Amino acid sequence: MRAEGHGSGKIILCGEHAVVYGHPALATGIDRGTTVVLERAEGPTTVHSDQGVDERLEHALRVVLGGNGLRVHIASDLLMGRGMGSSAALAVALVRANAQLFGMTLSADQEHAQALAVESVFHGTPSGLDNAVAARGGMVRFVRGSDGPTITSLPSFPHPIAVFDSGRAGDTRQLVAGVRERLDALGSVLQDIGDLCADIEQQLGDVHTLGPLMTANHDLLRRLGVSDAGLDQLVLTALSCGATGAKLSGAGGGGIVIAVGPDPADIVARAKQQGVDAHLVHPIPRAR
Ligand code: PMV
Repeated sequence: MRAEGHGSGKIILCGEHAVVYGHPALATGIDRGTTVVLERAEGPTTVHSDQGVDERLEHALRVVLGGNGLRVHIASDLLMGRGMGSSAALAVALVRANAQLFGMTLSADQEHAQALAVESVFHGTPSGLDNAVAARGGMVRFVRGSDGPTITSLPSFPHPIAVFDSGRAGDTRQLVAGVRERLDALGSVLQDIGDLCADIEQQLGDVHTLGPLMTANHDLLRRLGVSDAGLDQLVLTALSCGATGAKLSGAGGGGIVIAVGPDPADIVARAKQQGVDAHLVHPIPRAR
């Protein structure tokens, strides 16, 4: 008996960190993700992953699977710990494979709740943004509320995205906690990010107007204290390679910088010539 589930990775276009405090964020599913295969087997559950197995992963698996009777295979083409939603994609893939194994049909809400419990092992108290996108694909506006999130599907993001890898993993839990500690000193930065996100939503179709707004979002993330010299340099490199705008994406402190422009493949090619680890990702339409 074999079951398989998939969750897609995501790119946050705007609103990271501010989303934790109820401001909107925009994110899209991408053509990279994580697949989990479950097979029944005798004895204790074993885990095989092409990206290695650590304590947190084993804990996350136990949240859903228990300790016995399965062989678990995990395959992913997402960069780990880089703000591309690798843990949410894993969580969704795992919940889906497990439901299939037991012949259960989960509603979107049930799937979201189970996946969030798994992702919490990695992230503490995630806003749920990553999970929403990992489960649906497509482009969403996500607003966290006291009675649960409001997730609105938007038209697919129409541009390939240039992704620059800093080569360093950011620690989402620590970065979110750091922003919380600095809240009193942050003034209107979170509100400004929320306002910018509303503007960005109006400009998604045109990279010439969208780009500068994304760079403005990066500047606000710098003021939040979640960027660093390496990420700021990647933003400048993207702009010098033909991007109309660029920003860190995800929690920061490492991770990735994303860039848009009229010729994203050329941005990637030029950045690679400068020694940057760059690649192109493609937004995917909504799956369910
Ligand atoms: O997990 P990351 O790196 O994609 O960051 C998630 C976005 C945050 O807003 C920083 C945290 C959250 O839970 O929304």
